[in-house]
Amino acid sequence: MQKAQRKVIFCINERPPVGQPSCAVRGSRELMAETQRFVEQMNIDIAIETSVCMGRCQDGPTVKLAPRGEFIQDANAGNIQEAIIKFVERS
Ligand code: FES
Repeated sequence: MQKAQRKVIFCINERPPVGQPSCAVRGSRELMAETQRFVEQMNIDIAIETSVCMGRCQDGPTVKLAPRGEFIQDANAGNIQEAIIKFVERS
């Protein structure tokens, strides 16, 4: 696998009307920005991308590692960073 193919994908979907559970309401955009800073500081070769709803809104923010990576539910800076490090080590 080429390293450039690795991605961490953030759902940034909002679900109107306001109040519906969604990743954007739960801070996914801020998590994405924090993750971007983390991968740059750590010099990790992984792309940051956005996604529409991944159908896991109740447990968001939802993040997916690709290719063939795991979903991260209730994502936060700590569990995203830990998952990225493990994903890069095995890919
Ligand atoms: S809004 Fe993110 S999974 Fe649905």
